[in-house]
Amino acid sequence: MELVQVMIYDLCLKDCKIHPHKGLYNVGIEQGKIMTLKKTPLVADEVIDIKGKLVLPGLIDVHVHFRDPGLTYKEDFKSGSQAAAHGGFTTIMDMPNTIPPTNTACLFKEKKEIASKKCMVDFALHAGVDDLAEVEKIAPLKPASFKLFMDLCSDDFLDHIFEKVSSLDSKIPLTLHGENQKVVNDCTKKLQDENKNEAFDYSLARPPKAEELAVAQALNLSRKFQQKIHICHVSTSRALKLIDSKKREGLPVSSEITPHHLLLDSSAFKNWGNLTKTNPPLRSKEEGISFSMLDKIDLIATDHAPHTLEEKEKNVWEAAPGIPNLETVLPLLLTQMNKNNLNLDQIKSLLCENPSKIFNLENKGFIKEGMDADLVVVDLKLEGKINPDNFYTKADYTPFSGWEYKGAPVMTLSRGNVIMEEGQVMENRGRYVYLD
Ligand code: DOR
Ligand code: ZN
Ligand code: ZN
Repeated sequence: MELVQVMIYDLCLKDCKIHPHKGLYNVGIEQGKIMTLKKTPLVADEVIDIKGKLVLPGLIDVHVHFRDPGLTYKEDFKSGSQAAAHGGFTTIMDMPNTIPPTNTACLFKEKKEIASKKCMVDFALHAGVDDLAEVEKIAPLKPASFKLFMDLCSDDFLDHIFEKVSSLDSKIPLTLHGENQKVVNDCTKKLQDENKNEAFDYSLARPPKAEELAVAQALNLSRKFQQKIHICHVSTSRALKLIDSKKREGLPVSSEITPHHLLLDSSAFKNWGNLTKTNPPLRSKEEGISFSMLDKIDLIATDHAPHTLEEKEKNVWEAAPGIPNLETVLPLLLTQMNKNNLNLDQIKSLLCENPSKIFNLENKGFIKEGMDADLVVVDLKLEGKINPDNFYTKADYTPFSGWEYKGAPVMTLSRGNVIMEEGQVMENRGRYVYLD
């Protein structure tokens, strides 16, 4: 008699719809990795019946502000990553504008330690830049990028940073907040001198021109130093067209859009006041970016930027800029998909595949053998209304409150562990994505 050895997996996800493949698959998971995708039954220690629902790669958010250390009353790695898991995200990349900012090797290591203890999903850190001598010391610690707020940098400083980062052996991208410092300062001062104080005035204080100039400058510097750049939260169609044209010429540039810049326009100031205050600000319908332009965008990032409600409710000049987004973006986009404004291929490429490729995540962003079993199960028929009472983020408000959705994440798995089921988040320990 012939003995057939049967592989017994740690976990089998039974009857998964895996776009774009026809039929249902069983996903065999072993030690946190996807080992097999089969239409035939698998043997496993644990079987979860997915009942034909859609399974996507866990979402990757390359742009969040978890405020840890220093501003943990707004958010910390625990609450932020719980919000991520709740929203279907399995990888996040944290921005350096914490207190202290993540701009020395020592502070970078400290933040990595904090996140390793508290972050429930896998993570990477963007490094800040202040002292150029620290750039070389941070590079071996594998930051996702060096992040620059161009609205806070002089032209000279920008030139020096591009020179420094492009000279590193490890090809680390520069991630840019693209608003021109001088335009922002001049316009803000003028409006303040005129005693303007409506929420809408904020969009005039940081006009499209500020973004267009900064983006043009970033593209020139990228060409001059042959430096890979990623432009955060592009908000105007003109800036996007410029980026796209340079990309076609071969510049190493990528771009992202936030859910709020895609789904809202400056008329939202009327209803939501400073809750919609964000940098760069929301644009008019004519100036902004619509679904039809998504083919020019590389990825969607939430720019999850939590503040307390009190900080958001100050006057327009004092109120904190930023919108929490981790728990709204997938239901909102699935709803748009149900309305035929975008398709599943786009959701997959903009939130999983492209973030993985652009930020060199070898094991994430795809449902394939050998990849981390980072997965999100989606119920395309689930309907409800966005309700901040259900949020895990400490920022329990959103300009999307009350928006009806159809389609939402119902289960999240991080390297084979269920970390969210039907809205409930479980304990988990994330790790740094760029392994040694
Ligand atoms: O609106 C924003 N909020 N834009 C930024 O660039 C920073 C962010 C924050 O940290 O709150
Ligand atoms: Zn920014
Ligand atoms: Zn940001």
